[in-house]
Amino acid sequence: MSAQGAVDEFVFIDSDKAKVTAEALDFEDAKANLEYNANYVVNDWDALADADVVISSVGKISLQGTVKNKDRFVELQFTKHQIKGVSEKLVASGFKGILVVITNPVDVITTMYQHFTGFPKKRVIGTGTLLDTARLHRAVGQALQVHPKSVQGYNVGEHGNSQFTAWSTVKVKGQPITSYDLPLSELDEAVKTGGFTVYDGKKFTSYGIASAASRLTKAILTDSHEELPVSN
Ligand SMILES: NC(=O)c1ccc[n+]([C@@H]2O[C@H](COP(=O)([O-])OP(=O)(O)OC[C@H]3O[C@@H](n4cnc5c(N)ncnc54)[C@H](O)[C@@H]3O)[C@@H](O)[C@H]2O)c1
Repeated sequence: MSAQGAVDEFVFIDSDKAKVTAEALDFEDAKANLEYNANYVVNDWDALADADVVISSVGKISLQGTVKNKDRFVELQFTKHQIKGVSEKLVASGFKGILVVITNPVDVITTMYQHFTGFPKKRVIGTGTLLDTARLHRAVGQALQVHPKSVQGYNVGEHGNSQFTAWSTVKVKGQPITSYDLPLSELDEAVKTGGFTVYDGKKFTSYGIASAASRLTKAILTDSHEELPVSN
């Protein structure tokens, strides 16, 4: 979002001070070579008072490496405690905008944020299966050698092991997916495990989820009334 010039004021907050300070410095180092300017503030809750959007990416992704059978719920025991304190600080900051939630398990955490902040549901939106839908477009696109943007349709349900592709919604070049000879079950499984495949290789995920959160945030900022598969 910074590189695209979509937003020019960022507040980075993290309980790991060394990490967040380093992130901000890394962003500052990009300034001289980027087309658009943006300003970065570190660990200042008061600066959220007039923020339009706050994105929650609180978590502990390394917990995924502690279990054999991958499941987003492995983070719940950690994240559910963290977001209580985060909610209190967010409310105390006077934040009046929209909270976008990435933190896993995202559907549960979105509901918990609605409870802890007391914000109306329309002010707390999770990324839901937006990333999984992008993974679906990537997987089908690769199978048919077309760009992901040429694939329509949704992966739905709870972001995690019970998510599924609504194949009746999926079309490529205007044609229903059933008119192509594709192994749909295998593709659905590849979409479901896509996050873990990336995690196993680099021990975190970044570009896919950042693009999904960025798209949702821009839809909010521009009041675009786009249809997106989110948690609410
Ligand atoms: N919804 C999705 O599609 C999706 C996709 C990717 C990642 N995620 C989730 O996003 C979250 C973040 O992923 P990551 O790879 O950046 O994890 P990470 O473990 O690398 O980073 C999480 C950060 O949260 C910080 N943090 C923890 N508790 C905090 C608190 N109380 N206050 C302030 N900061 C706190 C940590 O210090 C850490 O820097 C995870 O829950 C992950 O599962 C969701």
